[in-house]
Amino acid sequence: MADRGPGVGTERHVAYFLRCLDLLPYIYTSNDLNRITLAYFCIVGLDLLHALQDVPLEKKEAWKDWIYRCQAEGGGFRGSPQVEGLGRRYDPGHLPSTYFALAALVSLRDDLTRVDWEGTLHLIRRLQRKDGSFAPFVMETVDGQGEELGGEVDMRFTYCASAVRYILRGNDCKVEDVKVDSAVDYVKSSINYDGGIGQGPGCESHAGLTYCGVAALSLLGRVDALSNLRQTIRFLTSLQNQVNAPPTEDADAASDDEDEYDPGGGFCGRHNKMTDTCYSFWVSGSLSLLPSTSNPPPMDLIDKEANRKYLLQHTQHKIGGFGKNAGDPPDVLHSCLGLASLAVQGEERLQGLDGALCVAEGAREFLATLRTGHATDK
Ligand code: FPP
Ligand code: ZN
Repeated sequence: MADRGPGVGTERHVAYFLRCLDLLPYIYTSNDLNRITLAYFCIVGLDLLHALQDVPLEKKEAWKDWIYRCQAEGGGFRGSPQVEGLGRRYDPGHLPSTYFALAALVSLRDDLTRVDWEGTLHLIRRLQRKDGSFAPFVMETVDGQGEELGGEVDMRFTYCASAVRYILRGNDCKVEDVKVDSAVDYVKSSINYDGGIGQGPGCESHAGLTYCGVAALSLLGRVDALSNLRQTIRFLTSLQNQVNAPPTEDADAASDDEDEYDPGGGFCGRHNKMTDTCYSFWVSGSLSLLPSTSNPPPMDLIDKEANRKYLLQHTQHKIGGFGKNAGDPPDVLHSCLGLASLAVQGEERLQGLDGALCVAEGAREFLATLRTGHATDK
């Protein structure tokens, strides 16, 4: 059998995520208000590595309690518990933080009974704009009499709203729903001539935002709305960079700066950009959600072995975790998403991945056992 090179360094990745959950490297100081996102990447990473079951129960309970301390008055979660008491104008629930908190709780196999599910479902409905898109937060007006939507327009929020809705709404939920058709139309209107999806209508196609659009449609049960599926597949698969030989000693220009060496094999987010670990997931995760009725199935149109080599030989780090580009130090986002891409490709020693929720398959199966009860009990 052909030598496939290094495998997943399971133990060092587990140690890396556990270390980051206890004490974050100083580089994350400016992310203090956004720690829920970092926690999500570590917890999902551990789950993919089959390592959550070995974490002592008290530790997992402490993580869950910390996540619940991020729950905001009036529904949703904030990025950190550190700014308690600022009220609904200055510290409201935040849509991406709500997605990251719920996905982390589901990964920890929490029963979600402490979630203000009704407030959170109301929140996502209030966040929906007339054009079907979602704002990341809604805040009280200065006079305290009304509320106003805040933040930018971005496909990320459509994804987060669809995921929160999926996690909290059972099949028989009584809370008024978001306008699903309008959300689907918004994604459709953001599909470009090349089949990729941008931040919103008329914005340049980008692999991360294409993931957000495709995964949102999948969670809304509307992947059929991808009007130009062949082009979308073409856009995504064309983002795999060709494998490049390392610069030789005497090659003049390129070898001056080793940081510039791009081994290829993985993916970029837009054409002619550097290969970057996270795009291995944004692309393979998207492909995993497209109908596999075409022949060959979308996932078989990429060079999976080259992607695996890029991740395991070039961005997997000696101290555990994965870096953004070849040779970079690890960070929690690229560590989780590098593993997620390997998992969606069926890497041995990893749990399978649910491409739509971006959690381990076991977590989505656990959620399925909760969903019906959720809808009917309350
Ligand atoms: C590019 O990041 C990535 C995106 C635009 C997608 C982000 C998606 C979410 C926040 C949705 C939820 C997340 C998960 C893990 C399911 P970037 O702007 O940093 O691009 P760059 O790395 O190319 O600079
Ligand atoms: Zn990246």
